[in-house]
Amino acid sequence: MSDRQLLVTAALPYANGHIHLGHLVEYIQTDIWVRFQKLRGRKCVFVCADDTHGTAIMIRARHEGRPESELIADMQAAHERDFRGFDIEFDHYGSTNSEENYELCKDIWSSLRQANLIAEKDVEQLFDPVAGTFLADRFVKGTCPHCKTPDQYGDNCSKCGETYAPTDLIDPVSTLSGATPVTKSANHLFVQLEKQHEFLEQWTQSGEHLQTEVANYLKGHFLGNPLRDWDVSRPDPYFGFAIPDSPNNYWYVWFDAPIGYIASTWQWCKKNNESLADWWKNDQTEIHHFIGKDITYFHTLFWPGVLKAAGYSLPKFVHIHGFLTVDGEKMSKSKGTQVQASTYLKHLDPAFLRYFYASKLGPKLDDIDLNITEFINKVNSDLVGKVVNLASRSARFVETTGLAVEYPHDGGLFSTAAIAGERIAQAYDELDYARAMRIIMELADQANAYVENTAPWTLKKDPTQHVRLQEVCTVVLNLFRQLCIYLTPVLPRLANQCGQLLNANISSWSDSQTPLVGTTVSKFEHLLQRIAPEKVHAMIEESKESTQEPAATTPTVEASATPVDSGDALLQEPLAPTCTIEDFTKVDLRVARIIKAEEVPEAKKLVKLTVSLGGDNTRTVFAGIKAAYSIEQLQGRLVVIVANLLPRQMKFGLSEGMVTAAGPGGTEVFLLGIDSGAVPGQRVH
Ligand code: 2FM
Ligand code: ZN
Repeated sequence: MSDRQLLVTAALPYANGHIHLGHLVEYIQTDIWVRFQKLRGRKCVFVCADDTHGTAIMIRARHEGRPESELIADMQAAHERDFRGFDIEFDHYGSTNSEENYELCKDIWSSLRQANLIAEKDVEQLFDPVAGTFLADRFVKGTCPHCKTPDQYGDNCSKCGETYAPTDLIDPVSTLSGATPVTKSANHLFVQLEKQHEFLEQWTQSGEHLQTEVANYLKGHFLGNPLRDWDVSRPDPYFGFAIPDSPNNYWYVWFDAPIGYIASTWQWCKKNNESLADWWKNDQTEIHHFIGKDITYFHTLFWPGVLKAAGYSLPKFVHIHGFLTVDGEKMSKSKGTQVQASTYLKHLDPAFLRYFYASKLGPKLDDIDLNITEFINKVNSDLVGKVVNLASRSARFVETTGLAVEYPHDGGLFSTAAIAGERIAQAYDELDYARAMRIIMELADQANAYVENTAPWTLKKDPTQHVRLQEVCTVVLNLFRQLCIYLTPVLPRLANQCGQLLNANISSWSDSQTPLVGTTVSKFEHLLQRIAPEKVHAMIEESKESTQEPAATTPTVEASATPVDSGDALLQEPLAPTCTIEDFTKVDLRVARIIKAEEVPEAKKLVKLTVSLGGDNTRTVFAGIKAAYSIEQLQGRLVVIVANLLPRQMKFGLSEGMVTAAGPGGTEVFLLGIDSGAVPGQRVH
């Protein structure tokens, strides 16, 4: 039996669109985890593939007047190029339109038949009379039958998460032609998931395979009722695999897409002389899927059900992440915030985004926000100001001498950082990259303080201090290298550059535990430039697509692109008299989460907020932010409140605290945010 090994997948991107910054959250998150595991010496294989089937591709190919095979080949090449551009390194990248996938679909299908899990039923499906085709779920939009949110796709609701049939939608419209679809009957095949209810209950609720909030969501939304039969066939015309024992029927794209994980592994096995059974039918292999929260149902109920029935290994863990917002809003083509990967790469270094996402990603399903100003500031201050600066302030001084042959006394800096390595590793392993980045930046702060104190540029000027100069630079470059090792999963290029600079490649996490001595130092070249705000601005401009939406003005982005801070704000409200630290600590500022935001119809400016300080500790706060924030924007976000303010009886109720914000008032109120990682109840010092 082989040793423990990891098989990692990221969701297979659809072949009908380009990769954008939203998709990259997942691919970067997964790539970091894989690189980390490899750096720790684990056997880890990362596979992915293009998800190629379905009506979307068929229609697009029709529009473009070419065969689907050509369209999907072009799209796959573009996807692979984008991934390479962002240093996302798959061990194999396949396609669901492959022989291997077809073989596996047949194999799994016959197991499902044998297990008596397939049922046949005539179903009414929506048919577009103008386009002459049945409509895939994603080609119908209408109002959610459960929560009544408009503009939802035909398979599940992005608001309440319910799944349903497209025929259940209220006021459906075909997105292909705008026609109102008609219903037509056809024979469909179903997987009877309910027959695996008991198994799925146990698998999802065991606490071993899913994040707690996901397990609870499944229990609350699906497992309390019989599981619906899952429609896995689509009638002709369809682009996909024909079902061998059901004439005129094809497997629905969502049937063969996850099987693509196995097919891609199989292709990798063929290239590497490995056996597929060793990866998909072996308890020693841990399968880790990384997905976004929108496709939870498929991966946590349908997919385990299929795998179980067909005798394949179940995922060890399905890691689910949230969505990306840009400047606090959904990405928008008209505002230029839905930036394609290829557009980003024309303007900016991939390392910037990799680092920024890492600094935001935690193990939970929270959405992450790409606040443009924060992005620029964080990258410039952390990566350039704290990490790269260590090398740029020391490497030149030892180009001729190399590093000292013995590691000098450094006051314990190197060994402290070496010990911190285990905490950093644990944070990576637990997908708490934000925590890992925080620890790394704390170490960087300590290293920078050493540079400030020892001032190598001053030592350089004094010939009697040149031995000391070499010692100091040996320390600084070793601290720099240690940071680069810890950052390798996030910034593989920087790690390579560090290897070249110090003539010692970084090949393992354990390289962080021993200082490097006596090596030569190459000529210093710039490792990473600062982000120039105008480049971000140019990227956003290039991403703007004119749509029906009114021409977008993007004040936040423009302000961040060329920050010219006038000083008016300070003039309008001059600084208060000096206070002591004791004065300040009388004010107990706490992180809180808005768990409920409600209109106060009678009040012009006020919103009623229920904020949580964690656990059962909630309170009511009235805030004058009605003109600046919508209820939706407030719900769920973190704020900073004055928690020990004397409660105040207001006309509309008792206010038990104050939410902190800047700005003159009205629409110009800006709530204080806090970086991800902070939790309700924490004190702000
Ligand atoms: O949601 C999507 O973009 C799908 N193409 C993901 C498929 S993941 C897996 F099941 F193949
Ligand atoms: Zn809904």
